[in-house]
Amino acid sequence: MLQTTLGSLRLQNPILSASGTFGSGWEGRQFSDLGRTGGLVSKTVTVLPRHGNPPPRIQETPAGMLNSIGLENKGADWFLADTLPKMKQLAAGGAGPRIVINIGGESIDEFVQLAERFSAAGVDALEVNLSCPNVQEGRLLFSTEPRLTEQAVRAVKRVATVPVFAKLSPNVTDVTVIAKAAEQGGADGITAINTLIGMAIDWRKRRPILGRGIGGLSGPAIKPVALRMVHDIARTVRIPVIGVGGVRSADDVLEFVCAGARAVQVGTAMFTDPTLMVRIVDDLRERLAAAGTTIDELCGSVHRPVPPAPGACQPDQGRGACV
Ligand code: FUM
Repeated sequence: MLQTTLGSLRLQNPILSASGTFGSGWEGRQFSDLGRTGGLVSKTVTVLPRHGNPPPRIQETPAGMLNSIGLENKGADWFLADTLPKMKQLAAGGAGPRIVINIGGESIDEFVQLAERFSAAGVDALEVNLSCPNVQEGRLLFSTEPRLTEQAVRAVKRVATVPVFAKLSPNVTDVTVIAKAAEQGGADGITAINTLIGMAIDWRKRRPILGRGIGGLSGPAIKPVALRMVHDIARTVRIPVIGVGGVRSADDVLEFVCAGARAVQVGTAMFTDPTLMVRIVDDLRERLAAAGTTIDELCGSVHRPVPPAPGACQPDQGRGACV
C-alpha cells in the first residue's frame, strides 16, 4: 500500500529525508530504524571540500528557520571513501531505503564529474542541486534560467547510469517553466522545492543576523508555497514530482501526494525530532488503511474532477439538474 515508484526507482514507501537536514543518515541511525524509510538523500556533495559560509549560519524564525550553510562538505573523495559505504549499510543491500546522492556544482563540468563518479559507485539515484541560494552570491544560476537548467540536466543525464532528479528553486516567477526545461533535459523526476530566500535583522546592531546576510527559509512557513508549486509542476510535466517543504506529519505528506507528489521529503522538522520520518511511515499506513486508499490512488487527485455525489445537485449547462 505504501510502495511508490519514481520512474524506474521503486521505493518501499514515499518518505525520504531532505538533503542537508539529516547528514547522510548515518548520524541519525541511533534514533530510529532508518531501514524503514523510503530513501535517504545526502547533504550536497561537491567536487572539492567547501568550508561554507561565515557564522551565524542558522536563525530560527516563527514558523521555520533560515540557513546559510554554503554547502559545507568534505568533497567527493571523502564522501566516496567514508560516507557512501555507511549509507550503503543503511540501505541493507537494497532491501531498505534508496540511497540518493545530492550533487552540487559551480559549472556543468563539475556536475558531470560528480554524476560519473557517483553512478559508478552504485548509488540508487542522483539529486542535482540546481537551487542552493547560499552560494554564488545567491544567483541561483542553474535554476532560474531554463536554458541552463536544461543544459545541466542533459549533461548529467549523458553520463549518469541511475535516475536523475532535478531539485528546483521556488525563487522564480514561474517554476513550471524551469520544471519543463529539466524534463526536456531528460530529468527522471523533479524535487520541489528548495528554500525561499529570506533575511533576519538585528535592529539594535543595525545588521543582518546571518553571517552572509541572506539565507534559505524552510519549515512549516513554506509548506503552502511548496504545495502550490508541486501542484503546478505536477500538472505541467509527465515525470514524477518529489515534494518537499514544511512536512511535519502524515497528513502533510498526503496533502503533497494529492497535489501530485509521488514521494515526499522530510527536512527541517528532523532537527527537532530525528525519529519523525519513521513515525510518519507508520502514521501514513494507518491513515491510508482508515481511508481505504493508496498512494497511487491519491496521487494527483486534486487535479481530477470530483465525481458528483448521488442525488447531489449539479449545474447542468445552467439548468441545475440533479443526478
Ligand atoms: O547552504 C546550504 O548548504 C544549503 C543548500 C541548499 O539549500 O541547497
